[in-house]
Amino acid sequence: DEVAQLKTAIEITDNALQYVMKHLEPGMAEYQAQADFEYQIMYQGADGTSFPTIAGSGANGTMLHYETNRDICEDGTLLLMDLGAKYQGYCADITRTYPVNGHFTQQQRAVYEVVLEANRTIAKTARPGMTLRELNDVCKKVLAEGCIRLGLIENEEEIGTYYMHSVSHHLGIDVHDVNTLENDKLLPGMVISDEPGLYIDEWEIGIRIEDDLLITEDGCEVLSEQIIRDPDEIEGFMQNR
Ligand code: GLY
Ligand code: MN
Ligand code: MN
Repeated sequence: DEVAQLKTAIEITDNALQYVMKHLEPGMAEYQAQADFEYQIMYQGADGTSFPTIAGSGANGTMLHYETNRDICEDGTLLLMDLGAKYQGYCADITRTYPVNGHFTQQQRAVYEVVLEANRTIAKTARPGMTLRELNDVCKKVLAEGCIRLGLIENEEEIGTYYMHSVSHHLGIDVHDVNTLENDKLLPGMVISDEPGLYIDEWEIGIRIEDDLLITEDGCEVLSEQIIRDPDEIEGFMQNR
């Protein structure tokens, strides 16, 4: 029953994100993208937001709990939106990062691909018996290898410069639900986030891709699989709107 409520919260979030993508354009204020999202979730019967909506364009996307949302989304920048609908007490927690004008630059796409690889690797790796710490170690390795390829760092230990949070937290009735210790093992039925990110001030690029995972008997189910994250799909959606 709880998973069904969460799936509805995620579906409402997905529909609202599609509305945001349909209307996003250069010159809009961050709070207008926030308003598009929040209008759409309330219209669909959500209780409200799971937490204050984060809508950070350009360098604002590199601030982890940016919720001022007062800047203009400039042409050529990315808009990072970390948000979620709460439905009958259950919280979705999703992040997507969109190009404001509908096209990723080469540099933005290169960073995006690294974050996406980390997100997908965690979804393939998470299973019962693992700890959140182990998952974060897997995430850090993928991000570090990517940052070395991008020429941002020289060795894996430097990844803390561009990735300074953890990839997972428990999720449910609270967006940061009752946490087990970092070394406690995951069990089937637990729901956790999958949220790698890279925050590169000097390039004014902040990218996070966050999904919600249900731990199953032998792996996990990505409850938010349907929310588009592939860069070609995002560009296609925004061009055909
Ligand atoms: N939106 C809060 C978080 O992703 O943990
Ligand atoms: Mn989030
Ligand atoms: Mn989260």
